[in-house]
Amino acid sequence: MRVLITGAGGYIGSVLTRQLLAKGYKVLALDRFFFGKDKLPSDTEGLEILQEDIRSFDPALLKDIDAVIDLAALSNDPSGEIEPIRTWAINHLGRFRVASLAKATGVRRYILPSSCSVYGFQDAVVDETSDTNPLTTYAKANLKAEEDILALKDDRFTVVILRQATVYGLSPRMRFDLAINGMVRGFFLKGKIPILRDGSQWRPFVHVRDTAKAISMSLEAPAEKVSGQIFNVGSDEQNCQIMELAKRIAQAIGIEFKYEWYGLPDHRSYRVSFQKIKRVLGFTPDYTPEEGAVEIWKALKEGRLDPEDPTTITVEWYKRLLEKGIQI
Ligand SMILES: NC(=O)c1ccc[n+]([C@@H]2O[C@H](COP(=O)([O-])OP(=O)(O)OC[C@H]3O[C@@H](n4cnc5c(N)ncnc54)[C@H](O)[C@@H]3O)[C@@H](O)[C@H]2O)c1
Repeated sequence: MRVLITGAGGYIGSVLTRQLLAKGYKVLALDRFFFGKDKLPSDTEGLEILQEDIRSFDPALLKDIDAVIDLAALSNDPSGEIEPIRTWAINHLGRFRVASLAKATGVRRYILPSSCSVYGFQDAVVDETSDTNPLTTYAKANLKAEEDILALKDDRFTVVILRQATVYGLSPRMRFDLAINGMVRGFFLKGKIPILRDGSQWRPFVHVRDTAKAISMSLEAPAEKVSGQIFNVGSDEQNCQIMELAKRIAQAIGIEFKYEWYGLPDHRSYRVSFQKIKRVLGFTPDYTPEEGAVEIWKALKEGRLDPEDPTTITVEWYKRLLEKGIQI
């Protein structure tokens, strides 16, 4: 089976690409490689790498593709606000282009890894049937992409939407702008965990290898089980309150718990139900936040990961690229 992964050089894509290659898939990895080309293995059998933009690639490359996993996007709220028009052009129209061309070319399955951020902040525990409440350009563009791409689904074209929790853990393209990863980095650099005030907020989390596993499960599930379906990706046990989570991480790493506040007080919370993906796909995570934190801590301690690598804070890196005249 030949799979096109857009955004394959990204935080999730570089982990997913390796997982699918290990399972024997052939992968066409398409990316602008804003964070560098070194995130994917070179000279690997079954892997083809293409530096292209989802807004303009030649549709002919979709010939002989069986499934598309569309990860390319400006990948968080602050990056989405740098130039909102570009966020809409990539995260909504760019993905819609990929999905429409895939359908027209006869690709059988399209998977959109979206985000739980479409729920915004809500008091109740939200599931896939809950009202959405997208608060930022990033979240609004995700939701519009979901709606327009779901409408393309038919008997020959399976569409699956995955709303991922906030991801954590080690990846070849590291991101320290994600909550758990940033906590470990803060501890490493300053001996204190940075905590968004006041720490009582709830957020859902999932390990990067687990979200990649969920993507590959939705690639392999029978079409009648998943087509036209939305799944939250994560687990009920990994809905965490930020302060409690920081304490657990300090304990797992084995250091005294110290913290510092950052940001304006933010009491907005959301908790997500992950019962559907468990029931329909049998998905349960293999990793905990503690395990994710410890693997990052070890990589920092052993010098395998640079805490000051400028590409690891996504919004800052995109701003630098723009300053250098590179169009995003
Ligand atoms: N990491 C998380 O916590 C998380 C949570 C929920 C949803 N998501 C979503 O999952 C997807 C992947 O996230 P990630 O964490 O791997 O982000 P990432 O920023 O590491 O990866 C995105 C990749 O897309 C590429 N890209 C951007 N614009 C492109 C374009 N126009 N054409 C081709 N390539 C382009 C970038 O070069 C990058 O390699 C995104 O849609 C993101 O919003 C991520």
